Parts: sequence; C-alpha cells; structure tokens
Amino acid sequence: QTVFLNGEFLPIGEARVPVLDRGFIFGDAIYEVVPVYGRRPFRWPAHLARLQRSLAKTRIPNPRDSTGWTALITEIVERHPWPDQFIYLQVTRGVARRDHAFPAHAVPTVFAMSSELPPVPAALREDGVAAITLPDERWLHCDIKSTSLLGNVLARQAAVDAGAAECVMFRDGFLTEGSASNIWVVRNGTIFGPPRDHLILEGIRCGLLDELCAAQGIPMDIRRITREEVLSADELLLSSATREVLAITRLDGKAVGAGRPGPVWASLHAAYQAAKS
Ligand code: PDD
Repeated sequence: QTVFLNGEFLPIGEARVPVLDRGFIFGDAIYEVVPVYGRRPFRWPAHLARLQRSLAKTRIPNPRDSTGWTALITEIVERHPWPDQFIYLQVTRGVARRDHAFPAHAVPTVFAMSSELPPVPAALREDGVAAITLPDERWLHCDIKSTSLLGNVLARQAAVDAGAAECVMFRDGFLTEGSASNIWVVRNGTIFGPPRDHLILEGIRCGLLDELCAAQGIPMDIRRITREEVLSADELLLSSATREVLAITRLDGKAVGAGRPGPVWASLHAAYQAAKS
C-alpha cells in the first residue's frame, strides 16, 4: 500500500513520523475520512470545507490551497486500483520540542492514505445494528474533526464490550451523536436530528440527508432531542462516511420500534445508493 507523507508517496511500511510530532505527543491534529465511489470522491467540496474549518479552528496553518488539496485527493485515487475507496487525511501541527504552546516554526505534517471501501455488509443493512446509550463525556469542541479521540474511542469500546456496533450519547439529557457517526430519530414520519453546534461533529452526511429528505418529502426537524424521544422512537438511524446510513434496531438490548429497519431508513438508504452513482 502506498501512502502520502509530506510531499512524497511511499510504501506504508516506510512512512515514518518523528516521535516529537505533535500529533503523536498531544493529539494536536485534525483529519478527514472521504469516501470514493466509482473512483470519484463523494461530496468532496463539503469534506474540503470541513478540513479547512478544522484547520482554522485549531489554528494549524493550512499547508495547501483548495486546488492543492483537490490535486492530492485526485492523485491518491489514481494510485489505487479500487473503484470504491476511503481516503484518510491527517494534518498535525508538526514536529517540535515538547511544549503545550504552539511552536514558532513547525511545518504541518500531512499524511494521507487510501483503503478499499467494501460494500456495507448485507447483514447490517438487512437487520440493522445494536447500540447502547452512554453519557457524552467528551470536550466542548466536538465540531472540530480532531484526532484527539480518546472520548470517542472509550465510548466505542464500551459499545463493543456490550456486543453493540455503536453508542448513542447524551449530554445533559439531550441526544448528541455516536462515537463515529451522527444519530437520527424518526417519530411519526418526521426525522429529527440534534442541533449542529459545538456538541457534535456535523457529518458530511448531514447535508446529504437534508437533501435526500427534501427530495423524498420526508419532513426534517433539527432541534434538541430528549432521551425519552430517543427511547420511544419509531426508527433510529446512524450515518457516517464508511457506514452510509444504517438502522439501529436494538438500543440497550430492547427493540427500537418494530425491531426491524423501517420505511424511512429504506427510503433514505435507496436514495443514498442512487446518489453514489
Ligand atoms: N467519523 N460524528 C463523529 C464523531 C464522527 O467521527 C463521524 C465520522 C461522524 C459522521 O461524519 P461523516 O458523515 O462526515 O462521516 C459524526 C469517521 C467516519 C471516522 O472517524 O472514521
């Protein structure tokens, strides 16, 4: 596998980052995960805009202009044989003597790799996935796509330990998101999502689902969602770059709605497949 590191393409086993890289020392870095379908990056302009926002919010100097980022992503796709890929992009603040304050002269580290994006397994689509509820114990800048993901990692592992695929987190009694996905609640035919503020990462699939719901005539309401509303939902969905849109059919061991992927999931999943091609 060939990866990109600081201007060159090289075999992954030869890609090395110094131990004083602030991404390693402090998690002082941001990232993106971009799906590619039929060799075309999917919703790339939105991913690029979020990358630029993450850099601006962390005050990591942006090492490339938009044309430069697009050229990089294009070259990565070209260097790999798979029609469907997902690209991982990471930018750290660079290498410097360990000091919490920003270094004066560090050059950002840019790393990118592509992997084959296998189809979402049929069993997950047909049966949905299990999730558990958890308190959201992360920081207050979840809108930044930072690699400082310890809160997300611990939450995901708690879900896995409970035999579930994802968690559904709450802060002060209101729904936030999953460990690596956005969460949607369907009640009486309307799809609800939490406010896209500093408490969640606004997924690129949020904008996509807005469009798909509008096109399908599915009413959408973005507002604070209580735990009771989640627990009594007709359908619960998750969305992410790698899992597309999946039904959560069991929550804390109990069936969600009818316990099967529901009609709103089915319409959105079909529309998502159409949008990919
Ligand atoms: N995660 N919320 C969190 C905390 C996430 O990490 C992600 C994606 C999402 C969904 O965003 P998008 O629709 O842009 O994928 C929401 C990626 C896939 C990851 O960390 O691997």
